[in-house]
Amino acid sequence: MTEHDITLTVNGTEHDLTVEARTLLAHALRDELGYTGTNIGCESSLCGACTVHLDGEAVKSCTALAVQADGAEIRTVEGLADGDELHAIQRAFQEEHGLQCGYCTPGMMMTSVELLKENPNPTREEIREGLEGNLCRCTGYQNIVNAVENAAESLRSGAVADGGTVADDPTADDPTTTDGGESK
Ligand code: FES
Ligand code: FES
Repeated sequence: MTEHDITLTVNGTEHDLTVEARTLLAHALRDELGYTGTNIGCESSLCGACTVHLDGEAVKSCTALAVQADGAEIRTVEGLADGDELHAIQRAFQEEHGLQCGYCTPGMMMTSVELLKENPNPTREEIREGLEGNLCRCTGYQNIVNAVENAAESLRSGAVADGGTVADDPTADDPTTTDGGESK
């Protein structure tokens, strides 16, 4: 099996690693680097649980090969909080009870952050459209939409962190990151 040496910068930390040509970015992040906040559900681009930011764009990391991300800047859910300060989207999910089991939550939040960057004042319909690639089997979506609305208001008012910086230690234990543990 051909292996490749690649470099991934994740939440501001550069990592050199060796991966097989077939290794998915999601697996490299979780299994090689320990960013287990990135969950894996369907492995077929349907559920969005694995969503991360790749050079500033939300992507489903089960659809990208790790070698394709060589040299890229990646942001995972562990990189949302700024130290102890939650990102607006994390606080909003907490306040609006936007999760139950939490498996979809990292992906929901990463997609939402990009959505709000592109559209700081979305309608509820626009939020639903923006999240249509992320599936939740628990909440019925109402509270998730509420959370994104809440975060949008907070970010517009400048009341909370916009997550423009990344945590110093991206693998530090953080109760606000939802680790789904093993893939399912
Ligand atoms: S695990 Fe990537 S979209 Fe479902
Ligand atoms: S909270 Fe359980 S899948 Fe969304």
